[in-house]
This record gives sequence, C-alpha cells and structure tokens, in this order.
Amino acid sequence: MNILVLGSGGREHTFAWKLVQSEKCNNLFVAPGNSGTAEIAKNVPVGVNDFEGIKEVVLNNNISMVVVGPEDPLVNGIHDFFLNDDALKSVNVIGPQRAAAELEGSKEFAKEFLDRHNIPTAAYGSFTKDSLEKGYAFLETMKPPYVLKADGLAAGKGVLIIDDINEAKSELKNMLVDSKFGEASTKVVIEEFLSGIELSCFVLTDEENYKILPTAKDYKRIGEGDTGLNTGGMGAISPVPFANEEFMQKVEDRIVKPTIKGLKKDNLPYKGFVFIGLIKVGDDPFVIEYNVRMGDPETEVVLPRVQNDLVEIFQAMGNQRLNEIELKITPQAATTVMMVSGGYPEAYEKGKEIIGVETVEGSIPFHAGAQIQNGKVVTSGGRVMAMTSYGETYQEAIKKSYQNIEKVKFDKMYYRKDIGFDL
Ligand code: AMP
Ligand code: GLY
Repeated sequence: MNILVLGSGGREHTFAWKLVQSEKCNNLFVAPGNSGTAEIAKNVPVGVNDFEGIKEVVLNNNISMVVVGPEDPLVNGIHDFFLNDDALKSVNVIGPQRAAAELEGSKEFAKEFLDRHNIPTAAYGSFTKDSLEKGYAFLETMKPPYVLKADGLAAGKGVLIIDDINEAKSELKNMLVDSKFGEASTKVVIEEFLSGIELSCFVLTDEENYKILPTAKDYKRIGEGDTGLNTGGMGAISPVPFANEEFMQKVEDRIVKPTIKGLKKDNLPYKGFVFIGLIKVGDDPFVIEYNVRMGDPETEVVLPRVQNDLVEIFQAMGNQRLNEIELKITPQAATTVMMVSGGYPEAYEKGKEIIGVETVEGSIPFHAGAQIQNGKVVTSGGRVMAMTSYGETYQEAIKKSYQNIEKVKFDKMYYRKDIGFDL
C-alpha cells in the first residue's frame, strides 16, 4: 500500500519511521516532510493546507491511506474534502472530520461538549466583545489566578494565566476588543484555575471502538524548572509514573468513555487520535483541553513504545475494526529531549548546519525543523531535533538522550537539561 503523511515536524518523522517498519507499506510519501523523512520516504513539496495539491499527489501515486499530522488541515476540513470527492472518497484518512475537529478549533465548543457529557473540567464562562461587561463581572466571581483562553487556534499562544484582577480585565479587553490574538480571540473562555500536575492521554478511535495509547508528559516551558515562555514542547516522557492503574481507570471511566460516546451522540465523525490534555487534581483527572491529533513531542515517546504494526492499526480504524487490535506496548520507558534554535520561541536564525547526527548511538534522532540544503542538513525551524531513547526506567533513558545530544552540534543550539525533573 502507498501511504501519505502530512506535516513536517518531529511527530511526522516518527510516524514515517514507524510506518516504514510495516511490510504493508510499499511507498511512503511525506508532504512536505523534513530532512529526517527524506532519508526514509519521498518528500513532496506540497503544503498541508493545499488540498488540491494533496489530491494530485494522492491520485498520481495511488495512495490509499493519508495520515494527518497537524491540526490545521483537520480544522480546515481535509477529511471532508476527501469524502466529498469521488476520486478520493475511498482513501482511508486518519484524522477527524471538520465538525469533530472543532474540539480543538474552538475552546468554547470543547467546553460545551465537556459540560453536555458530564466530563470533569474547570468551570467556565464564554464572552465576546458585546458581553465584555459580563466578562468583567464573571472575573469578579472567580478566585485568582485567572485563566483566559482565546477561543480559536492561536499556535499554542492563546492562553493567559494572570494573578491580578485588573490585569485580567485589561487582557480580556485586549483579546476581545483589540484582537490580541486576531480572529482567534473574537471569543474568550474564562476558566477556573486548576492546581495539579499535567499529563497527556492519547486515544485511538474508529467511531465505534477505542484504544488507549501510553500516557506521556511533555515539558512546555523554554526554561529549566518549567519557567519562561511556552513552547510547542521541549521534551517528553512515557509512561507517566504517577498515572498508575487506579488513576487510569478513572480516566477511562470518567473521561475516555463519555468522550467517545459523546462524539457518537453528537454526530461528530472521528477516526483518528484524540489527545486529551489532563490535569491531576488530588487523585482525580480533569480535562484541560482536547487536541484532534497526536502531540509533538509526545509522539516521539508514545509511538516508539507501540510494538504493533501501525499500518494494521490504521487499517483497522478505517474498517471500524479497532476492537480486533490488541495493543502491545513495551514496558520500557521512552524519553525525548528537543534541541532548539537559540532564541526560540521568540526570534531565531535558520540555516545552521547540523553536524554529528550520524555518530548518535543507542538513541533515535527524530528530525523536526531541519531540511536538506545543498546536500547538508540545516536548521529550518525553532524545534530542530528530538533525541529519543529507551530505558528500563525513564532516568536511564533520559541519560542516553543527553549523552547523544552531546554528539550533535549546530550554532546556538539550546535544550533543557532537566526533562523529568518533577517526577
Ligand atoms: P491549553 O492551550 O488549553 O492546553 O492551555 C495551555 C496551558 O495552560 C495548559 O497546558 C496548562 O498548563 C494551562 N492551563 C490551561 N487551563 C488551565 C486551568 N483551567 N487551570 C490551570 N492551568 C490551566
Ligand atoms: N506538545 C503539545 C502539543 O502537541 O500540543
């Protein structure tokens, strides 16, 4: 079978790495891909939101499975685009349809879904420019810190957590009236602050059945000790030591089951990955957010622990036979550490040559913001490479990741040296 992966990050390199291990995968294409996917698949220079361009690639290469990496094309309706086209409708697209992708595309939509299906989450109110005064009044009823979320997609930047009520009011106005996050903050969700430790839960669903993948914890802040600006993610660990069997049973009963049932009840067509951002408050799980795709860098630790043939899993999802799959997960821990461009997540330079990757031993370097230019591998993004390792414990795995990072160099390279510090 010929398969296409959409995206160009570490997540997509990991998907590609896993898919090419399957005997069922004949030719793998990645659009647009990076220097890592170029080594194991054929990169095609088509953007993830260029649906007509993607159609051409699919038809010209006899592709029958498309795995969608990032949220953007899902929220823009790529799955619907395939279903509405006679030449494409038989292609197995892994990713929800547009209506279901709203779970990530709109925070208000997600909160209404959570409420409707009695899934534990923070109390909230939703406001627009016209209800600004009500928003102020709602803030007065809350305790600090105040959580303000732009309703729409804001590249991971749309959440503000503020201690001072006056500052919270002024930011609410900035978002609603002065379009701080553009279109994304036409609506703002104000939430109760939950205090606890976060983790990510990943669920595969084919609309009828579901399978829970290994948990992971990612480290979002740029600085050690979880300080400084938010990033896409600086490292990850799987499994999450504090997500024991008892806790995961609560997650399944209180969150996963009602989510899958809710999708069906609300007619939200969903064949894909549900990424549930959780927070453990005391001993109980609450939902912080839904994403409609895998996490990055969580994918770089979750997929390496899955021992099944990934093409078989995706085929079963396409045929609504996920119940026939028995997930095999290695008991080994996996860790990944992101190597980023100096300056990220603010301004940074690109085009720096990356050297030493071929000397890595006992870890897997997943390329992210890296491209081949004039025969050399150079940086092309903020998050450049994720060094993934296995170990009997996460401590052993993380040690390997750090040992191998030492062998890789590019100008102004930075990484966090404390991944796992809080466990
Ligand atoms: P989100 O984009 O919704 O995942 O929010 C980004 C980050 O803000 C989360 O990963 C949490 O660290 C934090 N956050 C979001 N909502 C809350 C909340 N209700 N209580 C505490 N922290 C939150
Ligand atoms: N690492 C968090 C995310 O992918 O959204």
